[in-house]
Amino acid sequence: MTRQEYKAMVDAALEEYFRDVESIPIAGLAESMRYSLLAGGKRIRPTLVLEFCRICGGEISEALPVACAIEMLHTYSLIHDDLPCMDNDDFRRGRPTNHVVYGECTATLAGDALQAEAFGTILRSALSPERKARCAEYLADAVGLDGMCGGQYLDMLGEGHALGERELDEINSRKTGALLIAACRMGVAAAGGSEKQLDAASRYGAAIGLAFQIRDDMLDVLGTAKELGKPIGSDAQEQKNTYMALYGAERCSAMVGKLTVQAKAVLHESFSDTAFLDALADSMAVRTN
Ligand code: IPE
Ligand code: IPE
Ligand code: MG
Ligand code: MG
Ligand code: MG
Repeated sequence: MTRQEYKAMVDAALEEYFRDVESIPIAGLAESMRYSLLAGGKRIRPTLVLEFCRICGGEISEALPVACAIEMLHTYSLIHDDLPCMDNDDFRRGRPTNHVVYGECTATLAGDALQAEAFGTILRSALSPERKARCAEYLADAVGLDGMCGGQYLDMLGEGHALGERELDEINSRKTGALLIAACRMGVAAAGGSEKQLDAASRYGAAIGLAFQIRDDMLDVLGTAKELGKPIGSDAQEQKNTYMALYGAERCSAMVGKLTVQAKAVLHESFSDTAFLDALADSMAVRTN
């Protein structure tokens, strides 16, 4: 499969989950969920789920609900991240943010409902009870107190205070790294992969996860809103702690390069068929959106 094919597969499946809701009383909430979920997005997390499942010998079609689930979860995190009480951004995935269109209350509920739908989608999948339980557990761990929500809390607390490298890593491994690690692990779990494969997936995810947030911080300064589909300069405006502020562009680029090499090396120890994930790591390191 190519990246484009994975994305198309996920887009089509997500579309299916949120069809035929026009006539129900909660149609407005469903519409706001669809609005952000189907707005585009690179679909990196679901792609990781599907490809890790494949290289562990699993059926991609069986992992598809799990892939969609992590994208629902991620979309929830973006809707809430953009709220006025958080990063206060009005543009995302090339369109006005959810709360700008539907209001803060509906946007908050859309995020909440997407989170519940994510777990429901895993639990309703055709995977064996053991595999779906593991997928749900990895996702829950990545999102809760010690995962994305914990990271977002620390990110918010750090606004306006100059933090050091250790504290910044602490924030980012939770707010961004945890979900990318979970994507890799959920792919392995969906295929019934081994502990060794799970461990390699975690280490690959941790390296590309850190590289991903460093690149995100770079693009907030060096990118264009048109290409990114979200505003630039948002971090400075909110007095965020970022890798760009701490290290500058040149060091950030070098760090992303080094982490990408590390990520690929980890894979080669445990898997033979790594061409896709090698290329994915490479392209994420130089992405412009
Ligand atoms: C953006 O994630 C939020 C971060 C974790 C930095 P993505 O860059 O994957 O956003 P989409 O899904 O492509 O919109
Ligand atoms: C957000 O990081 C990570 C999430 C948990 C959504 P950012 O706040 O840097 O993400 P963007 O730049 O708004 O996409
Ligand atoms: Mg944020
Ligand atoms: Mg943000
Ligand atoms: Mg950012």
